[in-house]
This record gives sequence, structure tokens and C-alpha cells, in this order.
Amino acid sequence: MSFDLRAFPMGSVDESKVPLLSVIIPTFNERENMPIIIPKIAQVLGDSSVPHEIIVMDDDSPDGTSEAVGEVQKEIPQARCVVRKTDKGLSPAVIQGYKEAKGDIHLVMDADLSHPVEVLPKMYNAIVKDGADVVVGSRHTTGGGIENWPFMRRFISWGAAMMARPLTPCSDPMSGFFAIRPKVIDGAPLKAKGYKILLEVLVKGKYDKVSEVPITFKDRELGESKLGSKVMVNYIQHLIQLYLFPGSAPLIKFLFVGGTGMLIDLGVISLLLFLLGDNNFDLLGMEGLKYVYLYQAGSFLAAVTWNFFWNRYWTFNARKGSKSSQYTKFFVVAIIAFCVRTALMYVGVDVIGLNGEPWYQVILIGVIFIVTVINYLGSKLWAFKK
Ligand code: GDD
Ligand code: MN
Repeated sequence: MSFDLRAFPMGSVDESKVPLLSVIIPTFNERENMPIIIPKIAQVLGDSSVPHEIIVMDDDSPDGTSEAVGEVQKEIPQARCVVRKTDKGLSPAVIQGYKEAKGDIHLVMDADLSHPVEVLPKMYNAIVKDGADVVVGSRHTTGGGIENWPFMRRFISWGAAMMARPLTPCSDPMSGFFAIRPKVIDGAPLKAKGYKILLEVLVKGKYDKVSEVPITFKDRELGESKLGSKVMVNYIQHLIQLYLFPGSAPLIKFLFVGGTGMLIDLGVISLLLFLLGDNNFDLLGMEGLKYVYLYQAGSFLAAVTWNFFWNRYWTFNARKGSKSSQYTKFFVVAIIAFCVRTALMYVGVDVIGLNGEPWYQVILIGVIFIVTVINYLGSKLWAFKK
């Protein structure tokens, strides 16, 4: 068999250039599984006429995994083993696998048959035919599941997935079974620290459409699991890094930045009152009032500017857009939100007369909520739109 290894234009349906699938399998001590999984992949993909290469990324396993691949390769020449002697670990192996892969679609799966080989054509088609950029073999989508896991393990797995939920649009971001178009991670600063390479890809990659294919995860029958108790601590550290990464979980960041902005607002107005004196404040004449408005305008400007910089860089990671146009739009949104706030408070308190004990607070919270929604959507969909 020989394959055309040229890169195909995106979305090409030219029958003579069927996109090539690179199956990347990270391994450590998986000798026994090699003669089972590799022929199975070749058979399933062959039956569906999917051109493919199989790359085993082995961390110099002492059990002879690479020799086992060498044996299988005699029958299945599109399989090969890359032996890695430095920078060992699951995620670095996958990241190096992406560099070795020559296909138009890069798929990662475990060696131990936990991931059902039968769904490979379906995952391939989700990208080639349905235009997904990322497709995940998912345990948590309808129809997916985990075989023979005790309640506690299921619960921990579910909890761990929930903690990552705001970071991604995927129900199973911890899956080790997924495929991408290479452009998704082109230039992405992937770090190999965590075991959850998919999470890393989903947070740092560029993509529009994520699809999920339901899978039933089976525990391995041969060999041993390598991911033990240290994994949990490592996972939490990884999550913290990903939550801090510019552009991830923008709503959470936006709310946090907004909170700091309120402190700036309060701080600046207090400072102005302290420096310029509050005697103007006490005056009943028009002049005194004007000063207070001036202070408020100053602190508003300071807070909006503060929010702008953090939101631009951190919340939305929108440094590529024009700064002045983003700032103008962000400012317009803030002014609109401010006017809406003033108008709603006026209607609620002065017109309807909701100024009694619980009602004033209730309406204030409601108005803050509405204004936050306006600010967030205006920022996300307009000011910092990519
Ligand atoms: N190259 C390399 N280096 N491969 C490794 C290493 C390593 O240090 N550690 C593990 N692997 C390979 C294994 O040989 C196997 O093919 C795959 O990575 C998964 O390792 P397992 O030891 O079978 O992990 P698991 O079954 O506990 O975890 C799997 O399921 C999780 C979801 O429950 C993995 O798929 C995880 O990614 C997944 O999150
Ligand atoms: Mn496993």
C-alpha cells in the first residue's frame, strides 16, 4: 500500500485525494497489546477505505514494545514505532507524535483496547464529512459509558470532568481518545505537563466545531495502568494553569476583572475626594455637585480602562485586534450599560417606588445582573470579536 502524503486543501472532497488519517498511540510497556490493536486498526480502517498510518510513540519500554511493533510491521507496513529516550511521559509522547504524523487528521488513542477501534471511521467522518475540527470519543455524551467501573471511580471521573466544564464545550475533556485537524494546534503553546492532552488542546487550540462520538470505555485486560494517584494532584495543577491561560473560561475571568474594576472605581473616587477635599461635596450649590460628577467620571474612566486592558489580554486574549477600535467599542458598551443602569434604577426606585428594605436590594441585584450581561455580551460579541 502507498499513500499520497501531500496536505489536502481543507474541506476537499476530491475523491482521488482522500484525507490521510494518522493514528498516534502513546505506549509504555504495551508489548502484549501491539499484535492485537495494530491489526485491528488496520482492518477497521481498511474495511472503510480510510487511508492511514499508525505511529506508536514508545518511551523506550523495557518490555520490548518497539520490537513487537517491528514484528507487526512486517504484515502492516503503514505501522511504525518511534522510540523516545528523552522527555518521557504521556503528553510529551503525544505532542511529539503530532510532529511525526504526516496525515490530514491526527487521532490519539490508548494502546490497551480501552478505546473501541470500531468507531475510528465514524470519528474520521465527523471531521472529513461533517466538518468538525475536533472529534472526541466521549464517555459522557448520550450513548457513551464506562464498563465495569465501581461507583466511586465513576464519581471521581465525573467530578474531575465537571471541574473542567467551564474551560471547554466538550462533555468529556479528559478523554484520551480524540482526533483533530493539525491546524487546530498550529502555533498553540501546548505544555506537556498534564496527562490531559485533550484539555490542553481544547483550551489552547483554534477551532470552530467540536463533535463527540459516544464510546464505552473498557478497562484494560493486558498490561498495567500507568496513571496512578499522583495524577489527581497533577490534574489540579494543570487545571489551575488552564484557568489562568489567556482566553479560557472568559465569563469567569470577566466577572473577576469586573470585581477588580469596582475596587479601582471606589479607590480612585476615594483618592480624589481625599486629595481634592470633600468640602465641595458638602456644598449645596451647583458647583459642589459638578465636582462630584467630575470625580465620578474620572473613576469611571479609570475603571473602564483597567477593565479594558485585563479583558483584552486575559479574558478574551484579543491582542491581535486593533487596540484603539477595541477600546472605543468597549467604552461605548460601558456607557450604554451605565445609562441602562441609571435608567432602570430611576424607574425602579423613583417611579415605581421600590425603595423599601428588601426591594431596593432586590432591584439593585437585578439591575447589576442585567448590566453585567450587557457588558459581557457587548465585549465578547462586539468589542473583542475575533
Ligand atoms: N509514551 C508514553 N509514555 N505512553 C504512556 C505513558 C508514558 O509515560 N504512560 C501511559 N502511556 C500510554 C499507555 O501505554 C496507554 O497506551 C495510554 O498511555 C493510557 O495509559 P493507561 O495506563 O492505560 O491509562 P488509563 O487507562 O489509566 O487512562 C486512560 O483513560 C483516562 C480516562 O479514564 C487514558 O486514556 C487517559 O488519557 C484518560 O484520561
Ligand atoms: Mn488504560
